[in-house]
Amino acid sequence: MQQNRDLLHKDNMLIANSTKVRYNPMVIQSGSGSRLKDDKGRSYLDFGGNWALANLGYDNKNVQAAIQKQLENTSYAGIVSSINEPALLLAEKLVQLMPGDFHKKAWFGLSGSDAAEAAQRMVLASSGKSRILSFVGAMHGTNDTGMGLSGLPGAGGVKYGSHVIKAPFPDPYRSPFPGDSLGLADRCTSFIEDYLFKTICPPSDIAAVFVETVQSDSGDVVPPDNFMPLLRKLCDEHNILLVIDDIKIGLGRTGRMFSYEHYGIEADLILLGKSLGGGLPLSAVVGRADVLDSGFAGFTTSGNAACCIAGFETLNEIERLNLVEHSAIAGKYLGDKLASTLGDYEIVGDIRGRALIQGIDLVQDKISKLPNRQAASSIVYRCWELGLLLYYVGNSGNVLEITPPLVLTADEIDEGTSILDQAFNDYMDGKIDQAKVAEFSGWFV
Ligand SMILES: Cc1ncc(COP(=O)(O)O)c(C=O)c1O
Repeated sequence: MQQNRDLLHKDNMLIANSTKVRYNPMVIQSGSGSRLKDDKGRSYLDFGGNWALANLGYDNKNVQAAIQKQLENTSYAGIVSSINEPALLLAEKLVQLMPGDFHKKAWFGLSGSDAAEAAQRMVLASSGKSRILSFVGAMHGTNDTGMGLSGLPGAGGVKYGSHVIKAPFPDPYRSPFPGDSLGLADRCTSFIEDYLFKTICPPSDIAAVFVETVQSDSGDVVPPDNFMPLLRKLCDEHNILLVIDDIKIGLGRTGRMFSYEHYGIEADLILLGKSLGGGLPLSAVVGRADVLDSGFAGFTTSGNAACCIAGFETLNEIERLNLVEHSAIAGKYLGDKLASTLGDYEIVGDIRGRALIQGIDLVQDKISKLPNRQAASSIVYRCWELGLLLYYVGNSGNVLEITPPLVLTADEIDEGTSILDQAFNDYMDGKIDQAKVAEFSGWFV
């Protein structure tokens, strides 16, 4: 395939490798709806949404217009030492949207990682406690705090955060308690309560539990339905705050505005980011005012007016375009289509997800369930050659992840699934050039 050698060479020479997680040599030139164009004018259907960033697609006119209008006034209005109206509009909208009848406020930052760090600082300051509980397989960011809160085997996720206790996450396909999958959620929460709390980690030390309701980077793991209610109960009984990380799957992706709404529970804090800024860098922590009023966590650019108006307009567009409902319907169609098209391949162990986050767990064979990372990297690369973008994730780097823009249509689902089918066929027939695939190591090395 023809590539722009000049840009690839410059990328090699000029851009820090520490920022790179590459699956193919994609050069992005422009985007529209759920499609991206490269510098050669070649069009790609995007099943990855730039890591769940592009929920509204790549050219939402109302968000663009709102940003432009704000830039004509000023882009330099932060909230650290002054007030700007876009930040207030966004905060008001977010506290209205968040379920729960208690006094809420919003904190603003620029990336998911800084939201996780701010949340950690604020829960420690407000509770006066010293430790946090999170889960094996969790992803909460790539700064040192985020990595400390995370439980990923790759990406340095276990190097930091000696104050963070990691508990087993109830993965129904690869259970942390093999042979005991009945009552898996209870096994995990009682491991915390009856074992961790009674040995190395008294609950009185724990300020908060950080959790994703679908663990995406560990392989799109959907816990049993009773897990989140059990976790909420455990937090209530031990006076621990529940922090839901909805950075990747919040704002409609799971078919609800916030992912934990599936379980009829309340969160104390929600972390938001990625798609919130409609393409601009923006993150938020929303929740209990007494917690958000504790300690200090701010940047000079926090809550700047351009990003906040983009966030406000993004939320308006989610409502105007009915994207939460659309996500539920399109996600069901996508899940069914993936199962009927790909489910019979011997290398497909499991297909799982919630609405527009889906994972395809690739294995050596359906009996052994041994992770098949080579299949994942090969199929992702081949899909790019065939005009479909997606990534692979997972504790073993073997899960194809699908997190498309929420504006994805049924026709696009058919198109993308048939490209995946072709790539699976090519992999099974040994037709994918492994030398080319080997140039791209993905996320988990
Ligand atoms: C669930 C979750 N939390 C936090 C983060 C960190 O967000 P960011 O990369 O914007 O710092 C990510 C990023 O992938 C994520 O998926």
